[in-house]
Amino acid sequence: QTTLIVTIDGPAGAGKSTAARQLASRLGFDHLDTGAMYRAVTLACLRRGIDARDETALDGVLTEMDLVLESPHVLLNGEDVSLAIREPAITSRVKEFADSAKVRQFMVEAQRRFAVGRRLVTEGRDQGTVVFPEAPCKFFLTADEAVRAERRQVELGESGHVVSLTALRDQQRTRDQEDRERSLAPLRPAEDAEIVDSSDLTLDEVLDHLEQRVREQM
Ligand code: C5P
Repeated sequence: QTTLIVTIDGPAGAGKSTAARQLASRLGFDHLDTGAMYRAVTLACLRRGIDARDETALDGVLTEMDLVLESPHVLLNGEDVSLAIREPAITSRVKEFADSAKVRQFMVEAQRRFAVGRRLVTEGRDQGTVVFPEAPCKFFLTADEAVRAERRQVELGESGHVVSLTALRDQQRTRDQEDRERSLAPLRPAEDAEIVDSSDLTLDEVLDHLEQRVREQM
């Protein structure tokens, strides 16, 4: 079996995680949630009171960090942090750490190592542009702002958080703008990515389309 990398990038709330996980399961591929990696390092640093600009401290955390990604579980030094990393208190701080060149370099290397010898669906912001520019199958999954806010509201509701649609829309707008405008690995579609707008599609319709596209490459 040959290696095959499928990248799914896109803004917050576009349905990347669900689509990536289920696409991987349909294809029998592994799944990598790179947002979870940035979230986990954020959690590790916040717990220790480490500032994202303190490179020496960051080095320490990154070297000692044992991060295991076994979708859908994320283990940080043996502890299952899958739920803790989705808390709004983490979401609002990830940016600080995702902007750090040191953190990004570490993550990019870890992601490439993870992919060796695998058939993989990997999702994030920079998978098709920076981490796997040679991937044969690239998607940029997006949806209208209002649709994305509604989807996030449902998702958060499932974990017991009640947040208004306006607040969510504003938060997402800020986060996407920051992701798009940062100098390192900004959020944008790779030139050879197919842009999939899921605003008017059901999850199954999105999956059918992605699956068909990947199968054409197999
Ligand atoms: O996808 P998720 O919402 O879990 O990502 C959390 C944050 O991590 C994003 O807003 C982005 O700032 C950062 N991220 C990133 N590069 C990736 C994945 C996520 O910078 N490949």
